[in-house]
Amino acid sequence: MNQVARGSLLGIEHLEAKEILSLLTQARRMNPLKPRPLLRNKRVLLLFYEPSTRTRASFEIAAKSMGAMTTLVLSSGSSIEKGESLLDTAYTLRAVGADVIVIRHPNAGAPLLMATHLDVPVINAGDGMHEHPTQALLDAYTILRHKKTLSGLQMAIVGDIFHSRVARSAIHLLSKFGARITLCGPPEFLPEVATSLAPGLHITRTVEEAVRGADAVMVLRVQKERLAGTKLRLQDYISRYQLTTARLKLAKRDAILMHPGPIIRGLELTWEVADCPQSVIVEEVHNGVPVRMAILAKALGKAN
Ligand code: NCD
Repeated sequence: MNQVARGSLLGIEHLEAKEILSLLTQARRMNPLKPRPLLRNKRVLLLFYEPSTRTRASFEIAAKSMGAMTTLVLSSGSSIEKGESLLDTAYTLRAVGADVIVIRHPNAGAPLLMATHLDVPVINAGDGMHEHPTQALLDAYTILRHKKTLSGLQMAIVGDIFHSRVARSAIHLLSKFGARITLCGPPEFLPEVATSLAPGLHITRTVEEAVRGADAVMVLRVQKERLAGTKLRLQDYISRYQLTTARLKLAKRDAILMHPGPIIRGLELTWEVADCPQSVIVEEVHNGVPVRMAILAKALGKAN
């Protein structure tokens, strides 16, 4: 296989703990409100084959607050609709002068394919059911603003774990630092293979068991169409797995509640829980900007 373009960020799985810590340290030095022209004259291409609000907006703001130029290419309205291949789109974006490409794609491995054919860094903004490394980094950053360390942290992840690239990247990251992770969801959303993702993963049958004593609880979005493929009816999902105030009370008193968004109030969590003082959902989004500033600066060799 070709070499991966230098500076690319394709996933958490193969990153070393020290590379993760270096990105998190760099992120702490970034202040979007005090722009530094670290990326002046750099062109950041945002290539989104799937919908996105948070990831896309925060990458764009991160890039612009460091003086870069950004161009957004969406699959709808571009030549992708005409059947252009991923690599031909990549060569096109390189030809117009991209210095870095941020890509979200429904297929696992699309960012890797691009990074092995281009000479500019590629950043994975979510690929299929594979990884979402920048989300895992902003989640770790958020946890560390509330908890001293990730080591020994008790983390509960509730919902559709099987289809979640957010969960996969979070599991890779947190287990590298010795967190204890408990997963909970309907069996169809939590196949046995989940435990092979990382050592020390636990699966619980009930959300109560998962949440009890947790330092952090991460709730994942549940897509109704995926639920339709299981034996569970929407109402059953809600009564068994929805994060309610009573269930969150089982976690440690100072536990934080996380969700990568978009949240569907009334489904995976109640309205009350979404807005409760323990909720750091909005803070996660906020932290996405400095974390993605650090990622872009690192990709372009401008991190100090
Ligand atoms: C997630 C995604 O797209 O993977 N959103 C995000 O980037 N914050 C999660 C989801 O869509 O459920």
